[in-house]
Amino acid sequence: MDTSEIGRVKESFDQAVAHIEDLKSLQQLKVEYLGKKGKVTGLMKEMKNLSKEERPQFGAAVNETRNHITEIIGQKTQALEAEALEAKLSEEAIDVTLPGRDFSLGSPHPLSLIIENIEDFFIGLGYEIAEGYEVETDYYNFEALNLPKSHPARDMQDSFYISEEMLLRTHTSPVQARTMESRAGKGPVKIICPGKVYRRDSDDATHSHQFTQIEGLVVDKNIHMSDLKGTLELFAKEIFGEEREIRLRPSYFPFTEPSVEVDISCFKCKGDGCNVCKYTGWIEILGAGMVHPNVLEMAGFDSNEYSGFAFGMGPDRIAMLKHGIEDIRHFYTNDLRFINQFKVTEDGGAKNESI
Ligand code: DAH
Repeated sequence: MDTSEIGRVKESFDQAVAHIEDLKSLQQLKVEYLGKKGKVTGLMKEMKNLSKEERPQFGAAVNETRNHITEIIGQKTQALEAEALEAKLSEEAIDVTLPGRDFSLGSPHPLSLIIENIEDFFIGLGYEIAEGYEVETDYYNFEALNLPKSHPARDMQDSFYISEEMLLRTHTSPVQARTMESRAGKGPVKIICPGKVYRRDSDDATHSHQFTQIEGLVVDKNIHMSDLKGTLELFAKEIFGEEREIRLRPSYFPFTEPSVEVDISCFKCKGDGCNVCKYTGWIEILGAGMVHPNVLEMAGFDSNEYSGFAFGMGPDRIAMLKHGIEDIRHFYTNDLRFINQFKVTEDGGAKNESI
């Protein structure tokens, strides 16, 4: 073994490294020369076969070659890393001048908006939201509301029957009976119930076989007609404007006694007469009354101790009045040109941009 062997190792390294183009091969080359079983390490091991005199010169030459290889590998590593980074950057380059991808925001359905407005108002007065069933029994839809099988008022509501005893609820009033029953004769009960109802109407501009209602019920000791009136007055002002007044007209519902029809002063003409109020100055918005003692008793409440008021309103009609919508079918035909006109205002209310 002499120093020419060292020269050959160095030369072969220089040739090999010139062809290396990636970090992985460079790492392999490093192992091949500087690793434990590498060529340079092999040269070092040869030292023991040399004479004492030869060793220093041989050792210095091996060291020089090792330093040379280490340095070249270091330089090459840096160069290859920079190259790889450059390639990655240009591959992942983002053109920040490209326009963003447009996505359109949906808008809540106008009926959902009006129902949420009304819910918020009653929640503010301490009411709970109650839910019932759209498929209801004849008992809760009619009988528990003082409408026995033979009662002529059943004709007022043409119903979708599923069987003798089951039907699609014709109003949200069954939730009154169900909620009272669940309270086992103990007040207070203070609920509103929004939901879908069904009637066998032929659809036209003002009728739909499916529409929405909101039922309200308060039962406690010492509830009077004045509580009903005060509540509905506040409600009218909240939904239709501060200056609104209400008017109660005697009416008939089997589940309330006395019963009333509630009108609000016209928000368009302020009472002078216009097409919205049909030149009467008043618009009918809901039915209401004091809960009939029979209804209280059937649900397990002592009608000598408890009294209550109830009301029922139609969000479809309220939304139509509020936004000047002339056809109820717009709510149910899912035409986006209609629905997109409604946006949520900052205070969470509904806004129709077209009016
Ligand atoms: N259930 C009635 C209807 O569908 C609306 C109604 C009127 C509900 C008077 C009530 C009420 O709670 O007191 O026409």
